[in-house]
Amino acid sequence: MKMSMVKQAAMAVVVVAMGCMAVIALILTLVQHHSVDLPHRMQYGMVFDAGSTHTSLYMYRWPGNKENNTGVVSQMLVCDVDGNGISSYARDPPAAGLSLRKCLDSALAVVPANQLRETPVYLGATAGMRLLQLQNQTQSDQVLEQVNKVIQGYPFDFRGARILSGMEEGAYGWITTNYLQEGFIKHGFEGGWVRPKGRKIWGALDMGGSSTQIAFTPGQPVRDPASALGPKLYGYQYEVYTHSYLCYGKEQTMRQLQVHLLKMSGSTRPVNHPCYHLGDNLTLTLGDLYDSPCVVRPVTFDPASVVTFTGTSEPLQCLNQIKNITNLAACSLAPDCGFNGVYQPPVIGNFFAFSAYYYTFDFLGLAPQSSLSQATTTIDTFCKRTWNSLKKEYAVKDKYLRDYCASANYIMTVLLDGYKFNQTWGNIYFQRQVADTDIGWTLGYMLNLTNLIPSELPLVVTGVQRSQWAAEVFFIVFAVFLSLMVLVLLWLWNPQDGRGNK
Ligand SMILES: *[C@@H]1O[C@H](CO)[C@@H](O)[C@H](O)[C@H]1NC(C)=O
Ligand SMILES: *[C@@H]1O[C@H](CO)[C@@H](O)[C@H](O)[C@H]1NC(C)=O
Ligand SMILES: *[C@@H]1O[C@H](CO)[C@@H](O)[C@H](O)[C@H]1NC(C)=O
Repeated sequence: MKMSMVKQAAMAVVVVAMGCMAVIALILTLVQHHSVDLPHRMQYGMVFDAGSTHTSLYMYRWPGNKENNTGVVSQMLVCDVDGNGISSYARDPPAAGLSLRKCLDSALAVVPANQLRETPVYLGATAGMRLLQLQNQTQSDQVLEQVNKVIQGYPFDFRGARILSGMEEGAYGWITTNYLQEGFIKHGFEGGWVRPKGRKIWGALDMGGSSTQIAFTPGQPVRDPASALGPKLYGYQYEVYTHSYLCYGKEQTMRQLQVHLLKMSGSTRPVNHPCYHLGDNLTLTLGDLYDSPCVVRPVTFDPASVVTFTGTSEPLQCLNQIKNITNLAACSLAPDCGFNGVYQPPVIGNFFAFSAYYYTFDFLGLAPQSSLSQATTTIDTFCKRTWNSLKKEYAVKDKYLRDYCASANYIMTVLLDGYKFNQTWGNIYFQRQVADTDIGWTLGYMLNLTNLIPSELPLVVTGVQRSQWAAEVFFIVFAVFLSLMVLVLLWLWNPQDGRGNK
């Protein structure tokens, strides 16, 4: 009788304990899920890409409580500033500032009013301004000052307008590429962030109007410290090779080609242009032609006199003249060379080729990938066409249509003879976006400067934490198991209901 009462009491305790544990587990689960279900307040950030030919405003957003994580920043909108790049306002700096107003106003309309003051805005200027700075520092300072003044007039958290170095431009393009590809860290099954096994780090090929950049993690140590970067991202140290070729962006190369052809022509007028199409004539003043630090100008010339370039539709000639201006001779660290005497380790792995690479190849129907022979044939056929037939087929401004043949041949020269993708052509993807976000330096720049990419691996997890959930399930199962053990032990200790104890 006595033992049976003890047993009943023990069983009651066990039942009550189990009930308590279940309730606690339930509360824990509800509390956890409740906090996860709170709506995330979006945060916003903006970067002006002040390029040499035009300026664009990129607006990004991300859930506020997930800062310092990855894979969550997305592109919200892009606003194209009317007119040319800010460096073109060298002789009228206030107009450079005013040109940004339209996009700043559209940003005002998009960011919630109570978050304007915490929304960071950056302006980064690239090679167009680098060249203006070389030409006339006073003018480039004035342009930046006017741009600063206008953005400061808006209620954002403006963090300054500055000129990026070529190294920075290359590095931030590489960071953007691999952030969007989840190459740095990935949301692991366990709920935390992990560095992907067998991670594929992509290279980045960028081509603007005034400079072109290459950035990748080489398969061997970088031999020239001037082109080596060692960013520490999410607790891991990367070695990155990057170089920016100033004056070898698309527009400045076209300019170099014109000056080269004029020089080669001696006194012959008009000047034959093998990359321009039969039937096309372009007339320029010498003042405009020589208005660039990327070309060698004659000691004396009349800026008002004109020169006319006449298209001849000769792709082979076009390619040869482009090879002449890119200087494919070996560098001092041969055989590890790019072009124009620049050191470069052998290219390895996959690459995204964006901006002018993409626009040119997309126009010709060669994006995102095409075989080498397909690319060569397509470019050759396109270059042989007459200006008339192109004008009938494409509703594109003359200044763009005229340059596709030359820029396509320039791209082939840089990729094959310069960077030496001869054996690995198939590793290049001509692409503008990944995950609906443009590939370029702007996102990487903002991620770095707002600490959205920390140098330590973040422990914070998004959504329901799998590990937390697993712990809760384990806790409940363990409690049930323990209770059953107690029950079984009680039965074993007193198997015949009161008699065994006598
Ligand atoms: C994110 O990182 C910055 C600097 O690394 C730090 O100050 C901030 O507290 C971090 N935020 C979170 C939510 O961990
Ligand atoms: C640089 O620009 C300023 C302002 O436009 C001008 O006064 C000055 O003469 C320029 N200097 C040179 C060397 O062209
Ligand atoms: C990122 O920003 C930090 C300053 O916050 C700077 O020291 C570092 O060099 C930047 N990283 C890159 C790759 O430029």
